[in-house]
Amino acid sequence: MDADSKKFSRPKIDGWIFFLVGLIAALIVGWIVFPLVLYSEKSQPLSFSHSSHGPESDAGLECEECHFFYKDGTFSGIPGIRKCMDCHEDPESPLSEDPEEVKLFTDYVGPEKEIPWLIYSRQPDCVYFPHIAHVKMANIECKVCHGDFATRKTPPIYKVNRLTRYSIDIWGRNIAGYKKNTWDKMKMDDCADCHKRKGKENNNACFVCHK
Ligand code: HEC
Ligand code: HEC
Ligand code: HEC
Ligand code: HEC
Ligand code: HEC
Repeated sequence: MDADSKKFSRPKIDGWIFFLVGLIAALIVGWIVFPLVLYSEKSQPLSFSHSSHGPESDAGLECEECHFFYKDGTFSGIPGIRKCMDCHEDPESPLSEDPEEVKLFTDYVGPEKEIPWLIYSRQPDCVYFPHIAHVKMANIECKVCHGDFATRKTPPIYKVNRLTRYSIDIWGRNIAGYKKNTWDKMKMDDCADCHKRKGKENNNACFVCHK
């Protein structure tokens, strides 16, 4: 090796180091920092515990007693405070010592104000999603699309994507679109993939999901 080539190979190595450092920094920003700042977080107005209302609890309720179907097949969604007042009606005789129950009485039951729940799985208005076709006709468990709510002691933190306004439960936790559980995301392709898997490709025409 002569002196000249030594002189020229040095900057080359430095260049690689700069490139690598830059690449790693970009990856950290892209995969860790960006997803963190992309979502804003909110808590539910009241900390409702599914586990203290389920079949095994004192309240002893099945899912369908709060999340039921009307006679015309439409889904009730989250129950109104009338349902809560079946049991939580008298502030003088609370059912627990939990401060959240006091909040239920003073903020909602007393003034008869509905609780403004945040909906993790909310789709845009242009999407038509009938629960009855999935729960009754196809017999798909709630968990497959929503994750396990039955055993939850507190509702999950609600995270909304600042750019798309979708919740993280729809847009997905992984920016590469990778999912480990069926409930990790619920975009158009996720709906269509299941229809395909279940041999219901006839439901993958635009007008079936967009009215
Ligand atoms: C006492 C009434 C009640 C019962 C019984 C009940 N829920 Fe709920 N459910 C609620 C309320 C209130 C919320 C809103 C707060 C929250 O998200 O935890 C909710 C929210 C949910 C959500 C979130 C939907 C979304 O996208 O935001 C799912 C999923 C759910 N319930 C499933 C179930 C399942 C499964 C069962 C049966 C194991 C069940 N629930 C039993 C009252 C009830
Ligand atoms: C069938 C009766 C019943 C209904 C309907 C019911 N609850 Fe309860 N709730 C209970 C019982 C019983 C407890 C006490 C649970 C315990 O301490 O283990 C409780 C406890 C609570 C608590 C205190 C925290 C906790 O989980 O222990 C909150 C808050 C609460 N309920 C909110 C609600 C809301 C909101 C609704 C309506 C969506 C509702 N409940 C509907 C029976 C009911
Ligand atoms: C095939 C997937 C799937 C299954 C199975 C499913 N859901 Fe949902 N659920 C959704 C989607 C998608 C939405 C959002 C619908 C929308 O925004 O129009 C939703 C919304 C909800 C909501 C909020 C509704 C509202 O607007 O207030 C509740 C509560 C809920 N589901 C409970 C349940 C329960 C309980 C079960 C089981 C009995 C269940 N879901 C089964 C996909 C599913
Ligand atoms: C885990 C599987 C699964 C997922 C996820 C799923 N679907 Fe379905 N869907 C089905 C099956 C199975 C049927 C057929 C039900 C039947 O006719 O027996 C169906 C039927 C439908 C229908 C036709 C209902 C009718 O009246 O015939 C619509 C609309 C629909 N799905 C919309 C959606 C949308 C929108 C999403 C995503 C937000 C979605 N589905 C996610 C399994 C799924
Ligand atoms: C199986 C149900 C399903 C079918 C079939 C389907 N879509 Fe969608 N579509 C969705 C869902 C769910 C969303 C919202 C989530 C998302 O953006 O991926 C959506 C979102 C969209 C959006 C974005 C709307 C917005 O407000 O951001 C457009 C545009 C769209 N769909 C067009 C189409 C067209 C065109 C077809 C036919 C080639 C089609 N869709 C077929 C379920 C479906």
